[in-house]
Amino acid sequence: MAQVLIVDDDHQLRMSFERLLAAEGYDVRTASSGEAGIAAVREALPDVVVMDVRMPGILGLEAYAAMREIEPRLPVIIMTAFGTTDIAIEATKMGAYDYILKPFDIPETLRLIDKAVAAGRAMRARVAVGEEGAAAAAEAIVGRSPAMQELYKAIGRAAPTDATVLVRGESGTGKELVARALYQHSQRAGKPFLVINCVAIPESLLESELFGYEKGAFTGAAGRKVGKIEQADHGTVFLDEIGDMPLTIQAKLLRLLQERNVERLGGRQVIPVDVRIIAATNRDLEDAVRQGLFREDLYYRLKVVTLSLPPLRERPGDIPLLVRYFLDRFARDMGQPDPGASEAAVEFLRAQPWPGNVRELGNTVKKALIFNLGAPLGLDEVKKALDEPMRNGAVSGGDPEESVSLLIRRELASGRESLFEDLMDRFGQQVIREALTATGGNRSQAARLLGLSRPTLLAKIEKYGLRIESRVRQAD
Ligand SMILES: Nc1ncnc2c1ncn2[C@@H]1O[C@H](COP(=O)(O)OP(=O)(O)OP(=O)(O)O)[C@@H](O)[C@H]1O
Ligand SMILES: [Mg+2]
Repeated sequence: MAQVLIVDDDHQLRMSFERLLAAEGYDVRTASSGEAGIAAVREALPDVVVMDVRMPGILGLEAYAAMREIEPRLPVIIMTAFGTTDIAIEATKMGAYDYILKPFDIPETLRLIDKAVAAGRAMRARVAVGEEGAAAAAEAIVGRSPAMQELYKAIGRAAPTDATVLVRGESGTGKELVARALYQHSQRAGKPFLVINCVAIPESLLESELFGYEKGAFTGAAGRKVGKIEQADHGTVFLDEIGDMPLTIQAKLLRLLQERNVERLGGRQVIPVDVRIIAATNRDLEDAVRQGLFREDLYYRLKVVTLSLPPLRERPGDIPLLVRYFLDRFARDMGQPDPGASEAAVEFLRAQPWPGNVRELGNTVKKALIFNLGAPLGLDEVKKALDEPMRNGAVSGGDPEESVSLLIRRELASGRESLFEDLMDRFGQQVIREALTATGGNRSQAARLLGLSRPTLLAKIEKYGLRIESRVRQAD
């Protein structure tokens, strides 16, 4: 359970946060002053701190600096009111995760806390390279094939240097895992690691997200924003899906790599930064260069140290190993004993083409575990798990993404009101219904499967008015 520490002198606010976060399944601790907050962090490291900047005694900023001394990787979200945003911005310049303005937008705040928890864990959850030490680590890069052994050596060579590294490979081959391993085995391991997904952020926001802006840089730039690169000073920035980075931003990135400084949008000040860049892509960069979508100079700059991850179909010999690894991990997550897998099930998995690579294999094993009624995992469960995906629920067969787009477009044309909420609810309903079906109506299992807290899932079942018709309605 993720632990959140709330630091605020306002009793009322602490209480409401406590209630709100507890309902979302967080373990909440509170402190009523900066000093008490520091003591709490020293005593037991939380996943995230949410802290006011204005408190009697020492200022939030000093408290932030002290917490950062204790653990530079601890994500801290600063709470601020209109009029004290300067302190909050100062804190982000010092590496604070983000800040929120009072009065809080609750869903927004919850999303931010969620993201901060994930960011903190990505830094601290150890990734073992190879099976050695895998038992003690949270995750491991698994595989003994020659290509993987080459990869381990390359990670070993590249990690301790400050060189920019480009990680390439198809979707689901473990690029992010490798990026985290590189970071954790680097000299910057104790410092922050920030992930920026170049596709997930709309193009219009990506530039300011990375480089920040000054007040008045564009219409709507009311204050100053510190960019992620500046925020990660002395740390590591992981630029995921770099092949999709717009050309204008590529120019700025090239400059960062060559001159080691950034300029905020609308700013005249050149800000020196010391960050290591790790980038990843599943794109054919050479082709993107030919098409004029990717700068050639940036391409040459990035590819000096390249790690290429093999697709799973080129290393089928690693599949039994991966199956064992996932079974052990997921069974533990679900609080069940590892059932093992039958030889037929493993053989079947080994023979599949795995277009989604290790991610798809992992998801299949996870689903099979949910269907599993006894030990060991059999061929039937594994087959069913592989057949199950969205396909069945798709609107009109074919590519599921395609049909979802089709449905959305049709709805957009309808011109109804509150369309977004409606659509979200429809998908939400579908997702939860499927999860409940997959778990035979077991809501605790469904919550785990969806990565939701049980109270959150129950609230959604209630909201959507879903009745659970289950075969084996368990007292969960
Ligand atoms: N060699 C491996 N050993 C164990 N787990 C792996 C391995 N490779 C990938 N995984 C797991 O598979 C999943 C997908 O990996 P990851 O997110 O790193 O892929 P990716 O290459 O970044 O994919 P995408 O291009 O879609 O972002 C993760 O859960 C990861 O832990
Ligand atoms: Mg990835």
